Amino acid sequence: MDLTDRPRRLRRDGIRLLVSETHLDARDLVAPVFVDATTDERVPIESMPNQERVPVDDAVERVEEVCETGVEAVMVFGIPESKDERGTRAWAEDGVVQEAVRRITAETDAYVITDVCLCEYTSHGHCGVLEADAESDPTLTVRNDPTLDLLAKTAVSHAEAGADMVAPSSMTDGMVGAIREGLDEAGHASVPIMSYAAKYESAFYGPFRDAADGAPAFGNRRHYQMDPANAREALREVSLDVEQGADVLMVKPALAYLDVVRAVRESFDRPVAAYNVSGEYAMVHAAAEKGWLDLEAAAYESLLAMKRAGADLIVTYFAEDLADRL
Ligand code: PBG
Repeated sequence: MDLTDRPRRLRRDGIRLLVSETHLDARDLVAPVFVDATTDERVPIESMPNQERVPVDDAVERVEEVCETGVEAVMVFGIPESKDERGTRAWAEDGVVQEAVRRITAETDAYVITDVCLCEYTSHGHCGVLEADAESDPTLTVRNDPTLDLLAKTAVSHAEAGADMVAPSSMTDGMVGAIREGLDEAGHASVPIMSYAAKYESAFYGPFRDAADGAPAFGNRRHYQMDPANAREALREVSLDVEQGADVLMVKPALAYLDVVRAVRESFDRPVAAYNVSGEYAMVHAAAEKGWLDLEAAAYESLLAMKRAGADLIVTYFAEDLADRL
């Protein structure tokens, strides 16, 4: 054959890595950590193999385990001892996240990001203040503007406890601006915001709702999270968050939304995060358990694809397992 161009020449070991366009590094990864105020023992999360909820007393040890693998950042989620209509334990000074973050920042070198949302703290499991009668009338939903103040208070309480960065995930319109203002007024102008800017109403969050006990008691989140059908709308969501001062732009979920990761990468000059969510983790584990695919290889390939699409950092439950191999 008279072929001058043979791409296979560059696929052999030795040259392969020299020409690879994308690299995955443990320092690109953020490991979610669940701290649970309702238990004094570690509780495995059934739908997410190798993940557990840990009591506040084990939070430091849990983060140290993460850091030993080479991962340097964690995202802290809290399960409070009690819930109420407004989610008041979300911004309590002695709340589960605040308590854990104080200890983690005092005793480890991890970069500590906190998830800022109300769904784990409200008795109804929605991400904000409800309209009266929401339960009986499904057309009613979370009240946007009254929720903003509660999110700002929550973010400020995390920063006061020592959080390095806050990550609002409630898809409340105006949340980034309200939080930025709250942080600045409280003297935390240097705490960045990683906005869950394009967060979809996704079936892939199922296992997480198990893990963090944050499933809505009725209805769903379609009224505030994005429609999976929409990509242009994601750019609009992201640009609103940029205008309000978002420092890092997150797309969530990741694997089924790589086109959105790519579009955000190309349209904005800020760092892009991808959230490799609980369902993406659970499905790889479930198939691997059956012997149908190689867990590590499938996980690695998924994360590499997120980087190739344009993500700078990835929040993933695979962080510890993969860091060892990177
Ligand atoms: C809180 C929150 C959720 C996730 C992250 N923050 C749940 C949701 O929006 O329903 C999902 C994470 C995952 O599935 O891994 N709002």
